[in-house]
Amino acid sequence: MRCIDEIPAGELKGKRVLVRSDFNVPMGTDGEVADIFRLKRGWETIQYLSQKGAKVVVASHIGRAPEESIEPVARALRKFGAIVYIPDIAGSIAHDAIAAMKNGEILLLENLRRDPREKKNDESFARELASLAEIYVNDAFAVAHREDASIVGVPKFLPSYAGLLMRDEVFHLTEALHPKHPSLAIVGGAKFETKDPIIRSFLEVYDHVSVVGAIANDCLKRRGFPVGRSKISEHAPAREVCENPRLIVPADVTAEREDKQAFVKNPADVLPDDKIVDIGPDTVAALAPFIAEAKFITWNGPTGIFEEGYVSYTSAIAELIAKRVERGGMRSVIGGGDTIAALKESGVPEGKLGFFSTGGGAMLEFLLKGTLPGIEALQ
Ligand code: 3PG
Ligand code: MG
Repeated sequence: MRCIDEIPAGELKGKRVLVRSDFNVPMGTDGEVADIFRLKRGWETIQYLSQKGAKVVVASHIGRAPEESIEPVARALRKFGAIVYIPDIAGSIAHDAIAAMKNGEILLLENLRRDPREKKNDESFARELASLAEIYVNDAFAVAHREDASIVGVPKFLPSYAGLLMRDEVFHLTEALHPKHPSLAIVGGAKFETKDPIIRSFLEVYDHVSVVGAIANDCLKRRGFPVGRSKISEHAPAREVCENPRLIVPADVTAEREDKQAFVKNPADVLPDDKIVDIGPDTVAALAPFIAEAKFITWNGPTGIFEEGYVSYTSAIAELIAKRVERGGMRSVIGGGDTIAALKESGVPEGKLGFFSTGGGAMLEFLLKGTLPGIEALQ
């Protein structure tokens, strides 16, 4: 995988460069971008190319509904620099706008998923996208696990490079594949069946694997604890996973009654009316020494239902990690859209926690397979 910073100075000047970014960001009820994390991280590559005199044509998807427009993303990106939104993907409006570009200018094309050929990895669509530019750059790590036309199709037709964000993601997540010891993985989220492969893989590579969030309920249940009305996955985890001595299940939980009152309890005391919404302070205390000793921490998934305000234990873990990062000699990668959103509420500054991955599904798939279709397409 070649990165754009390997392109000799001067060679980018005047070149049309198609940058596939992942600007699939959450939208607020006001129709504007609600979180700029991916925009901020993706802007670095765009700026780099623009400063080298390239004509930068940015393409991304937004959401899953084909009618969604990416125009609000262009408005949000103007915090970082000048960018022109083009209400077209690869038709005559886009071609004319690109032909009129001056060196260093930046355009944003319309939502790639407006064209059904994007998700089908249709070759004719990949060719049309490729015809817009002379160089292709993939900086869309968070969607590099999808075999979409703009991810795996376009690099067949243009000289192709990784962007700076893609390079950083691959670097840090490669370290997470072979962590320094002692190492700790913290995994949350729902639907155990979707996390089962990564938990099994972490159990082989990491010294300890802590399950939090809804998937911890499945492990508690498998270990014979009552879980009341808590969220439970369709497929129960295997006994050998839940009984693995490296697996850490919550020592206590925050349980909410039907009347919305919440109490910290021992898992054995969960009542039929209770819904587990978070871990508890004893679980944080149990994790503290592992965090303090760790040389590597990977974290994906908040500890509780942060959308309902249960963020205090996610924050407590973040604070322990921030302290550990401050002492030095430890690397960490933290990812998943929900984790990042929950951490935003925690008040612990992003810069104090190590590397934040922009990927959710892509991060987990990379950690499982060591590569992604979008990365392979750049080889
Ligand atoms: C994401 O936000 O996870 C990526 O942009 C991929 O989006 P998708 O899950 O709709 O393919
Ligand atoms: Mg997703």
